Amino acid sequence: MGNGWFETVAEAQRRARKRLPWSVYGALVAGSEKGVTLADNQAAFAELGFAPHVAGLCHERELSTTVMGQPVSLPVVISPTGVQAVHPDGEVAVARAAANRGTAMGLSGFASKPVEEVVRTNPQTFFQTYWVGGRDEIERRMQRAKDAGAVGLIATTDWSFSHGRDWGSPAIPEKMDLRTMLKYAPQALTHPRWFAPFARRREIPDLTVPNVRGRDEPAPTFFGAYGEWMFTPPPSWDDVRWMVEQWDGPVMLKGVGRVDDAKRAVEAGVTAISVSNHGGNNLDGTPASIRTLPRIAEAVGDQVEVLLDGGVRRGSDVVKALALGARAVMIGRAYLWGLAANGQPGVENVLDVLRGGVDSALLGLGRSSVHELDRSDVVVPPGFESGFGGAETVGSG
Ligand SMILES: Cc1cc2nc3c(=O)[nH]c(=O)nc-3n(C[C@H](O)[C@H](O)[C@H](O)COP(=O)(O)O)c2cc1C
Repeated sequence: MGNGWFETVAEAQRRARKRLPWSVYGALVAGSEKGVTLADNQAAFAELGFAPHVAGLCHERELSTTVMGQPVSLPVVISPTGVQAVHPDGEVAVARAAANRGTAMGLSGFASKPVEEVVRTNPQTFFQTYWVGGRDEIERRMQRAKDAGAVGLIATTDWSFSHGRDWGSPAIPEKMDLRTMLKYAPQALTHPRWFAPFARRREIPDLTVPNVRGRDEPAPTFFGAYGEWMFTPPPSWDDVRWMVEQWDGPVMLKGVGRVDDAKRAVEAGVTAISVSNHGGNNLDGTPASIRTLPRIAEAVGDQVEVLLDGGVRRGSDVVKALALGARAVMIGRAYLWGLAANGQPGVENVLDVLRGGVDSALLGLGRSSVHELDRSDVVVPPGFESGFGGAETVGSG
């Protein structure tokens, strides 16, 4: 294999840690408060076991599926993240990698690249928005994404502005002016492999968020947009319904953790939900999303597409999520580590690692397709599941 190839996502993360300045690496680690949810997202996957067969295995295995009407070559799509300062190509590199590997791209409303450029790179782009700025602004933002050709909307409404991490938050500058550049110069000089691609293009990391505003308006800074978000009254279920009507196409509600919310999302008319706790970045102490998936999938899996994100680092994690009721998963940090480690090929590498892991788990489990996976394929320890928000009325309770 060529230069820079890595065999696991853990190795990509090790390389990212070495390559990135602490302020950039720390922003990707993210998490909130004590990091309980951040850790549980990964730990919970490790608690689940497999129940493999010894003979009668399938020589050919099918990994493809669809997500919100888009055919994808594996049950893994890109979860939206703002990736300012990781790589000069940012979300465009991620979109190209996803397109090359036959999967869809979730583009963050707080991304560093314009939605038009990303959709041109990967036409299978779902545009994500937070509830920033009230209905008029959100309508303009959605219209811009539609005009650009985005094929779906991801509405992310799980955010509680929980700040403060026990291990310390990285200092992120408001914008890159000369004074800030001088202050951060030592980080660039001590991390030449990170800075070189920026230097080659005579660029400095851009800390603006162009998709928050109209196409021809100046892009606000990340913190400017964040402040606006803090002062926007949070959305109601009526607002969610309104977004579904306005978009008039496939919509995913991202961040669902409760059965009652999942049912309300169905009533609001969404196409899909993502069972998610925002990668452990929101309310610390929320259980791992894989723990809450089974009850939610049981309650609404026949009415909407149920995806999961949070803690996926291996193909076997993907298979565990599918066995417990997800149609597909979304990945966040896994591709960010790949991007940091090796740019676009690094993201392709991560998708290849996941594809290989899904395929070998299917082989071991004697399944010929991701659609055949069910609960009998995994060993679920007693007390593993978390059901709340009406979960007691679903299944065994
Ligand atoms: C650095 C970072 C930035 C993120 N930015 C966004 C965002 O802009 N919009 C969004 O809906 N989710 C965002 N997320 C959450 C991810 O979409 C996803 O839910 C989470 O990363 C999944 O967990 P994982 O990183 O363990 O895969 C972000 C996550 C990280 C780590």
